[in-house]
Amino acid sequence: MMRTNSAASAASTRGCDGETTSAVWHSKNDMTRILCIETTCDETAAAVVGDGPTVLGEVVATQDALHQRFGGVVPEIASRAHLERILPVIDEALRRAQLRLDEIDAVAVANTPGLAGSLLVGLVAAKTLCVACGKPLIAVNHLQAHIYACRIAAGREVFPCVGLIVSGGHTSLYRCRNALEFEFLGGTIDDAAGEAFDKVAQMLGLPFPGGPSIQKAAAQGNPRAFSFPRALIDDARLDFSFSGLKTAVRYQLVGPGKPDFSKLDLSPQFVADAAASFQEAVVDCLVAKAMQALRASGLSTLCVGGGVAANARFRERLEDEARKGGFDLVIAPLKLCTDNAVMGAIALERFRAGLVEPLDLDAFPGLLRPKPSAERTT
Ligand code: KG4
Ligand code: ZN
Repeated sequence: MMRTNSAASAASTRGCDGETTSAVWHSKNDMTRILCIETTCDETAAAVVGDGPTVLGEVVATQDALHQRFGGVVPEIASRAHLERILPVIDEALRRAQLRLDEIDAVAVANTPGLAGSLLVGLVAAKTLCVACGKPLIAVNHLQAHIYACRIAAGREVFPCVGLIVSGGHTSLYRCRNALEFEFLGGTIDDAAGEAFDKVAQMLGLPFPGGPSIQKAAAQGNPRAFSFPRALIDDARLDFSFSGLKTAVRYQLVGPGKPDFSKLDLSPQFVADAAASFQEAVVDCLVAKAMQALRASGLSTLCVGGGVAANARFRERLEDEARKGGFDLVIAPLKLCTDNAVMGAIALERFRAGLVEPLDLDAFPGLLRPKPSAERTT
């Protein structure tokens, strides 16, 4: 590993608030290999990626079983589970890549956005490896990584593009100039689409995670059985709102008050119809805003990532609309939709640009929501 301070090739960055160095790191051989760590929410994941990008080894340890009975992710349970799993997961990713730590060129970690305790486990693990092995540290923005999953899967350039991230915490649109420059165009002003799937599933007595359960139930239902709201669909802003939709489903089930949803006696056909009608409303909003963003930005490529991008109806509708509009569409493959460390391969681009972080790099938890002001950049 050789570190140079070439001013000519040094890159500048906004980084993640900390001071990002502008040094340039070179791999000791032709192939750059990065160990990527992902612990932003409830999946403990590690991957070794190389130029291409190519996946040399990867592991995802899901925590679904731990959160199932609560109907959602419990942050404290998630961070404790990360703590137990992070080292075996990293070891296994390296073993699958048939590489030792000293053969890795850098360690990358998703340090924003996400759950505070979860982010910290991955960040501390990454920093410890960097200190112990003398490797540079690369910061990964989890939302940008979800878009980069499309670049990995496409095996070709996808930038510049409109990026749509639809996950459990976010529903956001970006103008993605390249792998390093993302401009926030709009996003949900309340619940994320995935969060709405999870909460509506819980009301309907369907298992966590709600997205796959609703999709399954919806297959037997009528998407026009109930007329649920499509908030902001005709609004000029590129924003979304799903909390009213969630409330509309709730009032379709039971009147005001604080009902015990587990005691509701819902027929399988009612559940299927409610699931199908809800799913169609979410998909209508997502597809309409993605097309609106393409038209408003003048861009012709749409990249879609995040857990909800695994939804079959959403994928089908995106494909139809992209074909009609003549847009180039790249949807992350199912395996790269939900959280994983492979999408951390965006770190290869940062590494090449010399975007190495200091070891006091912080975690930036929380959810990104549109600012009321005109200034909208990440
Ligand atoms: O991207 P992700 O794994 O984690 C976050 O970064 O939040 O997304 C998880 C979300 C959950 O809300 C889950 O219900 C949703 O993705 N999801 C789906 C489907 N598969 C996962 N939503 C709709 N349809 C699916 N097939
Ligand atoms: Zn995610």
